[in-house]
Parts: sequence; structure tokens; C-alpha cells
Amino acid sequence: MSSELIHRNQTRDQSENQITDSSSSPRQNSPPTKTRYILNRATFLFIGIAISTIFFHFIPSSRSISSNNHQNHDSSLIETEVTLPTRRVLLEESKSTSREEERKARIPLAVGLKSKRQKRVLVTGGAGFVGSHLVDRLIERGDNVIVIDNYFTGRKENVIHHIGNPNFELIRHDVVEPILLEVDQIYHLACPASPVHYKFNPVKTIISFFLHKTNVVGTLNMLGLAKRVGARFLLTSTSEVYGDPLQHPQAETYWGNVNPIGVRSCYDEGKRVAETLAMDYHRGAGIEVRIARIFNTYGPRMCLDDGRVVSNFVAQALRKDPLTVYGDGKQTRSFQFVSDLVEGLMRLMEGEHVGPFNLGNPGEFTMLELAQVVQETIDPNAKIEFRPNTEDDPHMRKPDISKAKELLGWQPNVSLREGLPRMVTDFRQRLFGDSKGGDKSGAAAV
Ligand SMILES: NC(=O)c1ccc[n+]([C@@H]2O[C@H](COP(=O)([O-])OP(=O)(O)OC[C@H]3O[C@@H](n4cnc5c(N)ncnc54)[C@H](O)[C@@H]3O)[C@@H](O)[C@H]2O)c1
Repeated sequence: MSSELIHRNQTRDQSENQITDSSSSPRQNSPPTKTRYILNRATFLFIGIAISTIFFHFIPSSRSISSNNHQNHDSSLIETEVTLPTRRVLLEESKSTSREEERKARIPLAVGLKSKRQKRVLVTGGAGFVGSHLVDRLIERGDNVIVIDNYFTGRKENVIHHIGNPNFELIRHDVVEPILLEVDQIYHLACPASPVHYKFNPVKTIISFFLHKTNVVGTLNMLGLAKRVGARFLLTSTSEVYGDPLQHPQAETYWGNVNPIGVRSCYDEGKRVAETLAMDYHRGAGIEVRIARIFNTYGPRMCLDDGRVVSNFVAQALRKDPLTVYGDGKQTRSFQFVSDLVEGLMRLMEGEHVGPFNLGNPGEFTMLELAQVVQETIDPNAKIEFRPNTEDDPHMRKPDISKAKELLGWQPNVSLREGLPRMVTDFRQRLFGDSKGGDKSGAAAV
């Protein structure tokens, strides 16, 4: 071993000697070459110093870019968003000085997705009641549809008939977590919409916390996604933003009368915040935004027993239970069939107007009148039972839809007496397995 080391050392010495020998070439002894070499080095050094001086003098530092950006966007939202994993892309985008440049900086869609015919559409909450009907229409139109849903109130059964279709993808995902998907349009529906899930639940604080998170963090995440990929974003807001209205019917210009600390406020205020976020992103970051204020909607695939009045009455009448009316039953609501709503949402998304737009049926019914229609449709002998009214229950609701009529060319076509039997067929089948007049997906009933 030691001999091997000695041998190696000897070899190294020899090679070092060789190097020394080779460096002691005749050139080294030539003074003009050495001087030229030093002069060359010095020239390159000076050129390098000059270039870096010019560069750092004229190009602003990253700190000043970032402060300009804050002035341009003037939005604390962007700062909030920066804490999300989208930070790098957002800062890169923020260097753009105009919206046009900003658009160019967005992540391009993958090859093959830019076709005008086939849009790639994300529907959050697409396994829910409204979302699943929207998905049906988008698939029918030939779009490529991605649904994300955490199944809090939605069901896989609502979209199961699309599984296997190459144009359809279903992802279990909670919108409070960020996600990156390359899409052209985002319909943001994810939010538990029925009162039992935000009002009467024994763990309502947890539910209301969940609601706030969904409405605030979830909406922020989806707006962030829209910004990154340059997608158009549609928010499904609600007539609840009008609270217990002092103006009747309610036009979009009305700012509402909401109790900010009541039992319904986690939903009402959550949606109001979501609208604010959408508008701030529109104004501050140039996102193409659409806002729909949806009034009471009913139809097949609604959750059974979810506390919404139409589904409550229909399920109760089918089970031969009394119809529960809260308060004196004189409070009014307007009821829109789900296919009308879906038509309105799609027109809004495709149109050029931001909104907000009321989407609802202006036909106004008291709760007692609704109970009567349910009796006529299902069971004339169904009893009515009165219960004490719930806190902050609005006295009246009726949309003014002039704006949607004029700018979207939209108005509802299905009356309550036409729509209710279609819902009853679906409910009967789900409650009793009676397949008369409806398929499993509820699609035939719409
Ligand atoms: N149906 C109505 O009468 C009505 C009225 C006004 C507004 N809206 C709005 O329309 C949208 C759809 O309502 P709907 O009636 O279909 O309600 P729904 O409860 O049937 O659907 C909501 C869907 O969102 C999903 N979801 C909830 N939180 C989520 C989360 N954090 N991440 C991912 N998915 C989540 C649920 O699982 C469900 O599938 C909601 O935003 C609601 O506020 C509905």
C-alpha cells in the first residue's frame, strides 16, 4: 500500500515537472508577448466594467419594479395573492405596463386548446344541483368540461352519466386550495347554498367558517387561476346580497339590507365579499369577470331535505308529511326553473357585460301559494303545518330582470306549474326508486 502511495506521488511529481517543463517554453522568455497578454487582459477588464456600469445605470432595480406595480394595480388583493403559490408568475406578470402586455405574459394554452369551437371550461361545484345541469349543457355544446367539487353538498351521481366521455373530467378538490388548470372559462359555483348547511346545522360555527373560507379563499383562488391562465370568470352570487330588501322588486342598483351579524350573514356577506373580490380583480388586474345574482332556483337533482322551501315541500308531500310553513306564510319568493338559470348563466358568460345581473323568475308567490301549487301537483290532501319563523327571513323577494332582458336577451320560460312536475318525477324516483318518467341522472326531467 505504502509503495503504491509512493509510486503515485512519484508519478504526480513527474507530471508536475512535466507541466513546469512545458510552461517554460520559449514564449515565456519573450517580453513583447507577455506585455501584449497583459494589455489584452486589461482591455477586456475595462470593457466589462463599462458594460456593467451602463446596465445598472439604465435598468431599474427589482425593488422599483415592485413599487411601480403596487401603484399600477393599487390593490391589496394582489399582495394577498402573492402569498399563494402563484407568486412567481404574478410578479412576472406585474412587470407588464399595460393590460395588453399582461395578456401576452399569461401562460399560453396548450397546443390544440385554442380552437374557437371547443372551449375548455372549468365548473367549480359542478357536482351540485345547478352545476350539474350547467355541465350537461356545456357538454352538449361540445365543450371540454372539467368539474372540481369536494362533494360537501354535491353528489357524483349528478354527473355520473358523463364519466367515460373524453370531453369530461371530474376532480375531487376543495377550492380553498389552489389549483392550476389550463382553461378558457371558469364558472365558479362552489359554495353550499342551502340553509341547513349554513344556518340550522348544530356545528354552524364550523360550517360558517367553512363558508367564509369557501367564499373568500375559494373565490380568491379561482380569480388567481383566471388571472394566471387568462380565463373569463363567472361568479354565481345570490339574491341574498339584497338581505331583507327595502326596495321591491330588487334591481341590481339596490345595495341591499343585510344584517352583518345574523345567522344568515355567513352566506350573505360571504357572497358580497366574493362580488367585491371579483370586481377588484376586474378593475385591478384586468380579469374578464361576470357576476350573476341568482334568485331561488328549483329542479331535478336538488338535495332532498336541504331546507330550501321547494325541495322541502315536494319531499314532504311525497312522503305524506305535512308541509312546514315558517311564520305566517305570507313572505314571498320567486321560483326559477333550473334550465332557465343555466341559459342565463351561459348567455352572461358569452356576452360582453360584467354585470351584476339578476337571474330569476319574476313570478312572485307567497309560501302559502307555493304550498297550494305543491298540493295541486302532488297531493291535494297534504296538510300544512305552521312553525315559528326563522331569524332574518326576508319578507319579500322578486327580481327586476330588465337589465338581463335588455343586455343578455334573456328571460325565463318555464312557469312554476310547468317546472314543478319535472322536479317531482326526479324526487319520486330518488325517494322511492320509482323510475316512471325519469332516468337516473334526472336529465330527462329537465
Ligand atoms: N340554487 C339556488 O337557488 C341558488 C340561489 C342563489 C345562488 N346560488 C348559488 O349557485 C351556486 C350553486 O348552487 P346549488 O344550488 O347548485 O348548490 P349545491 O349545494 O347543490 O352546489 C354547490 C356545489 O359546490 C360544492 N362545494 C361546496 N363547497 C366547496 C368547496 N369548498 N370546494 C369544492 N366544491 C365545493 C358542493 O359539494 C356542491 O356540489 C352556489 O354558489 C350558490 O350560492 C344558488
